[in-house]
Amino acid sequence: KRKMILDLDTGIDDSLAIAYALGAPDVDLIGIISSYGNVITSKAADNSLRILELLGAPDVPVFLGEPHSSTTEHFDVMAISQQIHGKNGIGEVDLPTPKRAVEKQSGVDFLIDAVHQYGADLTLVPTGPLTNLAAALKKAPDIASTIGNVTLMGGALTVPGNVSHFAEANINQDAEAANAVFTSDLHLTMVGLDVTLRTLLTKHETQQWRDLKTTAGAKFADIVDYYIAAYEVTSPDLHGCALHDPLAVGVALDPSFVTTLDLNMFVQDEGVDYGRTIGDPARLNEPTNVTVALTVDQDRYLKTFMTYLTALFKQN
Ligand code: BDR
Ligand code: CA
Repeated sequence: KRKMILDLDTGIDDSLAIAYALGAPDVDLIGIISSYGNVITSKAADNSLRILELLGAPDVPVFLGEPHSSTTEHFDVMAISQQIHGKNGIGEVDLPTPKRAVEKQSGVDFLIDAVHQYGADLTLVPTGPLTNLAAALKKAPDIASTIGNVTLMGGALTVPGNVSHFAEANINQDAEAANAVFTSDLHLTMVGLDVTLRTLLTKHETQQWRDLKTTAGAKFADIVDYYIAAYEVTSPDLHGCALHDPLAVGVALDPSFVTTLDLNMFVQDEGVDYGRTIGDPARLNEPTNVTVALTVDQDRYLKTFMTYLTALFKQN
């Protein structure tokens, strides 16, 4: 089984990423690091613990990540995030107080230790800002060449951003950290809006979860219906909600879901295009370090997504 760490600002689609990782047959989820974005870091950790308990995986440890970007001292959740994910981050759905507490070790140290322990066998999937990964790279630069796979949800190359014309939300939270990650020795796979806006879920699928008549099926149907209703207001042309974060987990496990382009990229960390992920003309002739997902086989992905999640919800 593949060792996996998720780094999440848990959030509705982050919760779906947890479910995908738990439902996939070939994953050993060894820990979740929390980040800020859809909610604050401590709430993201609390949500991860609640979701793990709901899904029958209360033994997966959850670690606190950085509480704000590498250039600020504070973080406020944006009104638009609250509108899309609800004030509690999980669609205003009540989940029981988790029995397990967050770990004492910091998320950054947990990540460094895990890379030292598992090296090439470890897959990291960040689906929030890249602050934790940048901090880990700064503290232990050797992890860049030893970690097996980093597949992140963030950025946009062929489509506009979702928080500004140029920037996608996760990258926009900390463009400096993202730039440090994108220009490091790490090899990255970027699952950005180019593909995540094409993998959509509708009430047709959430009804199938509801029909399972299990707690997890009903709760996830409520959580995701909140997300679908929010998308109907903010992005009525899409006709569904985007499976941003679980697609990154899917691509980490099966890269053949997407077609890709290899290039060197950087992240704009000043000016009107703050947060833009873009090819670096200064490194055109260097070996590439970013594999960017450009198109996705959405039918095959959605089928796999529903197979994994439905089986998991059926048991819980
Ligand atoms: C990303 O931003 C967050 O709100 C979502 O959870 C996803 O990770 C999409 O831009
Ligand atoms: Ca997220």
